[in-house]
Amino acid sequence: MILDTNQRLIYVPSIFYWSKAMLGMGVSAVMNGRKTKKKKTSFDLMKSGTAVFRLLPTNLAHKCAIQALKLGLVPKLAEIEDPILETDVWGMKFVNPLGMSAGFDKNAEVINGVSDLGFGFAEIGTVTPFPQQGNPKPNLFRLLEDGALINRLGFPSKGAEKFARNLEKIRDISSFKIGINIGINTGTSDPAGDINYCLNKLAGYASYIAINVSCPNTPGLCAWQAGDKLAELVEKAKLTLSKQVNERTPPLLVKIGQELGDDQLAVVSKVALNYGIDGLVACNTTVKRPATLRSNHAKEAGGLSGSPIKKQANQTLSKLFNMTNGKVVLIGCGGISSAKDAYERIKSGASLLQLYTALIYGGPNIIAEIKKGLAAHLKEDGYANLSDAVGVNHI
Ligand SMILES: Cc1cc2nc3c(=O)[nH]c(=O)nc-3n(C[C@H](O)[C@H](O)[C@H](O)COP(=O)(O)O)c2cc1C
Repeated sequence: MILDTNQRLIYVPSIFYWSKAMLGMGVSAVMNGRKTKKKKTSFDLMKSGTAVFRLLPTNLAHKCAIQALKLGLVPKLAEIEDPILETDVWGMKFVNPLGMSAGFDKNAEVINGVSDLGFGFAEIGTVTPFPQQGNPKPNLFRLLEDGALINRLGFPSKGAEKFARNLEKIRDISSFKIGINIGINTGTSDPAGDINYCLNKLAGYASYIAINVSCPNTPGLCAWQAGDKLAELVEKAKLTLSKQVNERTPPLLVKIGQELGDDQLAVVSKVALNYGIDGLVACNTTVKRPATLRSNHAKEAGGLSGSPIKKQANQTLSKLFNMTNGKVVLIGCGGISSAKDAYERIKSGASLLQLYTALIYGGPNIIAEIKKGLAAHLKEDGYANLSDAVGVNHI
């Protein structure tokens, strides 16, 4: 039995059963349409499947999505990429700038499935050094009217050991880049030690590493965004990476939150420039609640994501671009749900983009839609490639 966020009891024979059933319903919706309408594509299938998934309680829907991707039940949507979207970041080629944001594949279980959806990269995790449960349910809420989610999952993780074993199993997808987002165990007495433990276990698998110091659901974590503490964390992490015998040291990023005021952003920017942080992911979810929220769940504790955080996330990114003089790579994240949003974030200074909540509401079709629209915007404005448009709002 599962108790969902609306306190309904649901019998779950097995996640496998549910995944198949949900996808089956998606398929049958498509099949029914086929009798009267034009030929249906995998896009129609994904639309129906996504709508059905949204009827499920939040945590169960996530489990089913992971299971469906694991079992290869989701149609392959990756297609020929428009060369205008190809971009070189940290000396690595990204076939397109759109990535799956951290928190979806917390245990490195569905990297192949996510790459099949058409993303250029995924940030997997947050992984903690040792397994932990996360917060009790209900801990994930849909704010349907607002196109938003609130989560207080609190880093449920199978731990770094299992994460590494899962990474060993992925099929070769060398054109798909894998960022690993690392965090700390709740209640740890040594946060820097936790980060170093994860680095030692996982850095060898990563296209880049992102240290998460901005999850609002792990007590004490966000304090590590303060200048001295962040510098200490980054210095130790860089030392750990320098001692590793990997062929290449992955770029080191820090994921920051939206609660930071201008003074704090200036401090983060200074640390980034002085201590050689290779990139900033801006932003994580927020504990702030815009007055515009309409859903009954708006007052739930946790981190808000999706459309209502778009403006603030864009402003934060824009300020970071200015404060770092465009010298630190920025990954734009928070409320991106359309090609227009994606283009705006690139022009504000993002070299790469991530989304999560829009995938829940729009389904996987949104990836191709954003890529197509972004390529069209770039061409309309006369750009030869994506990197030429990065930060142009600041010129
Ligand atoms: C259910 C859920 C779980 C998340 N878990 C993590 C996580 O483990 N680590 C992390 O850095 N961010 C996590 N995030 C934050 C996202 O990576 C992203 O920064 C945030 O949702 C804003 O992007 P969006 O508006 O496109 O969703 C999570 C978000 C959601 C909705």
